[in-house]
Amino acid sequence: MSELLSIKEASQWASEHLDKNVTTSNIAYLIQYGLVKKVGENGSTQIIKEELIEYYKDYKKFRQDNWKDQLGEDLNWTLSFDQYKEAETTKHVHRLHPYKGKFIPQLVEYFLDGHTDKFKKETYFKKGDIVLDPFAGSGTTMVQACELGIHSIGIDVSAFNTLIGNCKVAKYNLAEVQTEIERITKALRLFVLDSHVIEFEEKLLRELYLFNNKYFPVPEYKYKVKRREIDEKKYGEEKEKLFLTIYNQLVKDYRIKLHQESRVSFLDKWYSQHVRDEIQFVHEEIQKIKDKETKNIISVILSRTIRSCRATTHADLATLVEPITATYYCGKHGKMCKPLFSIVKWWETYSKDTVQRLADFDQLRKSPFQNCLTGDSRAIDIVDELKKENPEFAKLVSNQKIKGIFSSPPYVGLIDYHEQHAYAYDLFGFERKDELEIGPLSKGQGREAKQSYIQGLSEVLNNAKKYLVDDYDVLLVANDKYNMYPTIAENAGMQIVNQYKRPVLNRTEKDKGAYSEIIFHLKKMNYG
Ligand SMILES: C[S@@+](CC[C@H](N)C(=O)[O-])C[C@H]1O[C@@H](n2cnc3c(N)ncnc32)[C@H](O)[C@@H]1O
Repeated sequence: MSELLSIKEASQWASEHLDKNVTTSNIAYLIQYGLVKKVGENGSTQIIKEELIEYYKDYKKFRQDNWKDQLGEDLNWTLSFDQYKEAETTKHVHRLHPYKGKFIPQLVEYFLDGHTDKFKKETYFKKGDIVLDPFAGSGTTMVQACELGIHSIGIDVSAFNTLIGNCKVAKYNLAEVQTEIERITKALRLFVLDSHVIEFEEKLLRELYLFNNKYFPVPEYKYKVKRREIDEKKYGEEKEKLFLTIYNQLVKDYRIKLHQESRVSFLDKWYSQHVRDEIQFVHEEIQKIKDKETKNIISVILSRTIRSCRATTHADLATLVEPITATYYCGKHGKMCKPLFSIVKWWETYSKDTVQRLADFDQLRKSPFQNCLTGDSRAIDIVDELKKENPEFAKLVSNQKIKGIFSSPPYVGLIDYHEQHAYAYDLFGFERKDELEIGPLSKGQGREAKQSYIQGLSEVLNNAKKYLVDDYDVLLVANDKYNMYPTIAENAGMQIVNQYKRPVLNRTEKDKGAYSEIIFHLKKMNYG
């Protein structure tokens, strides 16, 4: 007979076994998703120890040893930040808005702060220094610099990224932000009352609840799928079809407009007419706000909201495939799911979440100078551009100069940075500069793309050098599988003096392969 464990015992056993905190909710998740079987009734839930052993088999080896086998002995496990929970790696303002390609704040902190250890034998920045991030993205470097009292300049070619970065480090009158949110929420609630959408959704959710309970009971259904006792694809398709009759009737009864007439822009294509109307309504309410900071942060809330309301399946949230307008079988949740018909829920959730995050950060932050500039880092005149935004900071940069760079450049052919926020460009009307992105996904990873990447990165470093002190430290986080950084450094008159090799864990569910990135430490060629 195999040993049975309660959820608590299982979490204790797994924590010891893995040498990392496995909570009771982690175990509950395994049961919920049918990864281990539940034995016993509510209140006395138990699981079979052998199943847990099986589930965690290879876990440890897969992590440290296996990774070192694959990636080399010089892998610096400290930099995996394995011990941090998601809540810590997405703490306070770091999760104001989704952004693909963000680095974790603990990594930035490791290099910006004043500690040393067996890998980091010297410090690179101290309070009052200026750090530059020429590929600022969503502003992680700026936020961490702000916590440490280091002045920071970010640059990004995408205007929407700059908005996110600046919103993260801005100071707010939180009472005013709250008042504006309440005003807009109240108006939005009245606005949706006029349509039948809320009633329709309530009715639909009820029908879905009954249907899912009947055909996709938790956790038995997923367990059966895991054990291949049910052919998920066939069964899912069958039930999807069955539910469509109910769905279509409701759509008819409540006269729901599933499509917009025009299908040209992103906003036309990816939102139902109702959602689109609500977006427009909130957008117009935001235009009435006078204070610039308040207006910006509330725009970011709207953007985050509409990102969550795109007409996509849960499985395709990260990489959109085709807009959906009907209920569908969702492999991720193992039941029938529905697209969104109103933004109210996400608007309210994100409004509350944002105010909380701003308040949390307010407790931690210092008040250095900080600005994220929109521009092409190959050519931008940093002091001139800064002068327009913050003359005092521009003066400091001219006199004191920048101590160093901490940045993660785009990788070659991986992400289209403008496109990932296409909805925000449509809504806010920011000018797109896709053609100025270095290493975009759309240009691939061919020879030409690599050449142009090397040239682009070299130009960025050469441009930045004009503003750097003589004994600068440049730290670049990169996945250099094509070995381009030695050439980039040379082109920029720099030398690579050290390389920190860090394992990248906790990537997406689908992609759990061994993967590392390097933090290159560059200094002036022949310096000292
Ligand atoms: C890997 S991301 C940086 C992510 C950032 N470290 C973070 O935590 O959010 C690279 C960024 O470089 C920007 N970028 C690409 N080409 C650029 C250029 N020519 N000038 C300035 N920024 C550029 C992209 O828009 C993207 O936001």
